[in-house]
Amino acid sequence: MFCLTRISDSFKMKLEEAQTLSNVSINTLDLQWVQVLSEGWAEPLKGFMRQHELLQCQHFNCLTTDNGVTNQSIPIVLAISSEDKNKIGESTKIALKYHEKIVAILSDIEIYEHRKDERVARQFGTTNKDHPYIEMIYKSGDWLVGGEIHVLERIAWNDSLDQFRLTPKELRQKFKELKADAVFAFQTRNPVHNGHALLMKDCRRQLIERGYTNPVLLLHPLGGWTKGDDVPLDVRMKQHEAILEEGVINPKSTVLAIFPSPMMYAGPTEVQWHAKTRMVAGANFYIVGRDPAGMKIGGRDLYEPTHGSLTLKMAPGLNQLEIIDFRKAAYDTKAGEMAFHDPERKDDFADISGTEMRRLAKSGEQPPEGFMAAKGWKIMSDYYQSIQK
Ligand code: ADX
Repeated sequence: MFCLTRISDSFKMKLEEAQTLSNVSINTLDLQWVQVLSEGWAEPLKGFMRQHELLQCQHFNCLTTDNGVTNQSIPIVLAISSEDKNKIGESTKIALKYHEKIVAILSDIEIYEHRKDERVARQFGTTNKDHPYIEMIYKSGDWLVGGEIHVLERIAWNDSLDQFRLTPKELRQKFKELKADAVFAFQTRNPVHNGHALLMKDCRRQLIERGYTNPVLLLHPLGGWTKGDDVPLDVRMKQHEAILEEGVINPKSTVLAIFPSPMMYAGPTEVQWHAKTRMVAGANFYIVGRDPAGMKIGGRDLYEPTHGSLTLKMAPGLNQLEIIDFRKAAYDTKAGEMAFHDPERKDDFADISGTEMRRLAKSGEQPPEGFMAAKGWKIMSDYYQSIQK
């Protein structure tokens, strides 16, 4: 549940101003984007996209400024209804309300047509409404309102996880305090199994081999909206803490924080967003593996699983970031552990799919030894058994 915390003078002043403005109600997904924008993850973007920014994003995957080109592959827009548009009229500033509380002011606004088919086709490469984020876009308002955003106060969710929601500036400070000479980031929206851990451990090994003495891992689970069958954030956070406790990943050289963005399941387009935002937070290396930000529709991968990493390595405007890509990790039945897939002995490898993992967890069965650390698995299996009830 969202709440406003401290009452400061700046809050009072902004609130007084906001109360004089026309207001528009936003939903939870919109508020997550407000948080992303207000914390600077999408820099140089200062608010919801105006039309020229949306066109740059969708046609070039970039924003151009006087300082050059920055990657911005995904639209960050605010949809409003025709009634809201009429209510706003000629105003140049509006207030954004969430659950009846004013949370932000949007200034120098521009209202333009929400061309949903075109937006969706460009972002996702499909207009298939079986895709859950696409479905939400089609249900949203017919107009977009862009403008610079000013939050009244820092966005907080009061779910006992706010201490993990560090802004890019706070993360940079943390890396400085830890005296990191390299920061490598790992985005995830899933519980961490030993295949994920293999990517993180091997990335660290590579960096040390290259001469870095104190590489720090940013373990950065996505904390915004995810589709219904993904594991909820609170459960994932417990699972991540458990694998750190068990030493699967070294807790001393790891920063565990929450990335506030919603998930879009937009494959190669979205993985650029995942990388850009970690660059903003001070990462110099970004881990990418198989089918990042992908999902299945009708039992088939929506995106070709290697396209995410191939695209990311060519993406414009990510020049302060080196991409460390990995091939698929799978369960090596001979070695009894997660290992990088070896095409020479492909019969030795088994995929433990999300569906299989859910089936095992629901029925209280154990996964093969070496798939996931025991404490981490218990959290997963307790969760799946609780939702069965
Ligand atoms: S994502 O939507 O956040 O990309 P997920 O949490 O599954 O999904 O993946 C996090 C990262 O791990 C991504 O870079 C993804 O490519 C990589 N990854 C996940 N599973 C595997 C795997 N079996 N082999 C190699 N890389 C993987």
